[in-house]
Amino acid sequence: MAYTGSYQSQVFGNGGSPYPFGAAELEEAARVKLSPEAFDYIAGAAGRGLTARANAAAFSRYGLTYRVLHQDIPTDPAVTILGTSLALPVLLAPAGVADLAHPEAEAGAARGAAEVGTSLVLSAVTSSPLEDVAAAAPSGHPWFQLAWSRDERLARSLVHRAEKAGYEAIVLMGDCYAAGWRPRELSHAFFPYRHGHGLGNYYSDPRFWALAGHTPSGPGLPDDAAREAAVAVWNQVFTRPSFAPGDLATLKSWTDLPILVKGVCDPSEARCLVEAGADGIVVSNHGGRQLDNGVAALDCLPAVCAAVAGRVPVLFDSGIRTGTDVLIALALGADAVMIGRPWLYGLALGGADGVAHVLRSLKDEFTSALTLTGHHTCATLSLSDLTPAGPQ
Ligand SMILES: Cc1cc2nc3c(=O)[nH]c(=O)nc-3n(C[C@H](O)[C@H](O)[C@H](O)COP(=O)(O)O)c2cc1C
Repeated sequence: MAYTGSYQSQVFGNGGSPYPFGAAELEEAARVKLSPEAFDYIAGAAGRGLTARANAAAFSRYGLTYRVLHQDIPTDPAVTILGTSLALPVLLAPAGVADLAHPEAEAGAARGAAEVGTSLVLSAVTSSPLEDVAAAAPSGHPWFQLAWSRDERLARSLVHRAEKAGYEAIVLMGDCYAAGWRPRELSHAFFPYRHGHGLGNYYSDPRFWALAGHTPSGPGLPDDAAREAAVAVWNQVFTRPSFAPGDLATLKSWTDLPILVKGVCDPSEARCLVEAGADGIVVSNHGGRQLDNGVAALDCLPAVCAAVAGRVPVLFDSGIRTGTDVLIALALGADAVMIGRPWLYGLALGGADGVAHVLRSLKDEFTSALTLTGHHTCATLSLSDLTPAGPQ
């Protein structure tokens, strides 16, 4: 019997790993390590958490078809999405204020992703400027998540900076134009931006300071008074109040990079956005952080894929925890997936090394599942790999 991935053999060879392998154990270890407000910020969800729980539960409604006829061909889980080559069909989802998890923050995530051969989608709200994050992992192929600012010049500046710094795609955050109701954040009265987290891309942008009516004395965090004023301005300009499919043409006129829209769950919206020029769709409900009583993101995936009809890539996130979850999403039509909380937990436990552990584990488990369902690449996955698992 061959171990299908090199990470398993490495762990056996080393006599173990400093990190847990199960998603629940990883989360628990991060809980023990982090302050309550940091952990609740990362782990929390909207309202009672029904959407977040539905996201996870949706995967258990599918069974995988196990196959015995096989050929001696190595399994290769690599995919290419919009010109970016990925060693596995899993990217790191944009997640803001990662410095709450670990001081290496986004730079650590970028390095962990690059080590395993995949990409970080850098959040708009980071501790370091996007240029520094790209420079921290020179072999990486990062993407940038844009929060389309109410101030058009600021939005354009962020897009231009990302393109110049080598980011390979823009992921427009579609689903965070209003604040979700998150009781676990409220219980600590913890708004990280007020404490100096998350505004690295804004503090490094001259247009932002022009809006804030202030000239910073140098790079780095502004002093307390300037910061208080800056956070208030940022709150006003962070996202624009409306978004229509026709707006994509404006965004496309600013850049040659492909533009994906993240947070799409409604197939008719997906169809409109593709017809308006979106280069990719990300099915996501923000990990259940925005709207409680929401439909599980996985349950939206087949209809969105049908509406998109292969015209552009479809990515998926919200609830992916294991390699078999990745396989289910791909069999339902996704071209690749993203993980959110799991990489933040890995980062919390070991910086870049912890992120690489999470990705290597997913890669090995996914490669094993791909092989055992009779595939050598992701391209042949289809609905025939799935059977309804029945009520759980
Ligand atoms: C702490 C945290 C911060 C996040 N920040 C952002 C963000 O800045 N931009 C964004 O588009 N999505 C953000 N998300 C959502 C993720 O991109 C992703 O949609 C979600 O985490 C996927 O669900 P999962 O955590 O179940 O994998 C954040 C998620 C978490 C957990």
